[in-house]
Amino acid sequence: MDKNKLSVNIYNKIAAIYTNKYFDDLVSSPFIDKFLDVLSKKARILDVGCGPGNFTKYMMDKDFRVEGIDLSVKMLKIARQKVPGGKFKLMDMRKLDYLDSSFDGLLVAFSLIHIPSQEVVQTLKGFYKVLKPKGKLLVITQAGEPDRIVDQPLLEGEKIFINFFTRNRLAKFLTGAGFKIIYQKEKQQDQTEAFSNRVIYTIGGK
Ligand SMILES: C[S@@+](CC[C@H](N)C(=O)[O-])C[C@H]1O[C@@H](n2cnc3c(N)ncnc32)[C@H](O)[C@@H]1O
Repeated sequence: MDKNKLSVNIYNKIAAIYTNKYFDDLVSSPFIDKFLDVLSKKARILDVGCGPGNFTKYMMDKDFRVEGIDLSVKMLKIARQKVPGGKFKLMDMRKLDYLDSSFDGLLVAFSLIHIPSQEVVQTLKGFYKVLKPKGKLLVITQAGEPDRIVDQPLLEGEKIFINFFTRNRLAKFLTGAGFKIIYQKEKQQDQTEAFSNRVIYTIGGK
């Protein structure tokens, strides 16, 4: 079974519920601002696993040149409605279809958690390739145990695959793919129906 596919299928079912709950949620915004601060003005950014385009819009509103990719058709449909003028593509983050050195920054918000451990380094190497020589990325993940199949809190009776991380485990994956760790913080973030209330923010650079 492709565990990632299990997750994407669930996002197709919960796209509208997810959008209602999280589109205007600004809890992570101080860390996104921190990431945007290390980029140049009008930097080109890829929002990886953009979902309904919530953070694509947040960064576009700050005048960055942003595009989003996601593997859920339903999420992308909503993103195109919610973010007029946004550029969105159906794409698997494990096989990015961009030229090398295309982006100044990559935002990977709550999406790497759906990639099984054995595919994480390869996926991060793909991120490294599409970043420009001084490119940066912000990875936001929940903290916990690796490679779990858990109840999806937004839809009773459904299971979803989540790869939780520790700060060290994520840092090792990132350095294994060639990144340097610039900043890392784990924060208690209490939210109802969340997979985990501990969130790890990691900024990496080439
Ligand atoms: C928890 S949502 C995060 C959405 C948004 N980034 C946010 O932070 O609110 C995870 C998203 O990752 C997407 N995703 C999962 N696996 C993916 C893959 N292999 N390639 C691209 N997107 C993927 C899902 O479809 C879903 O929209």
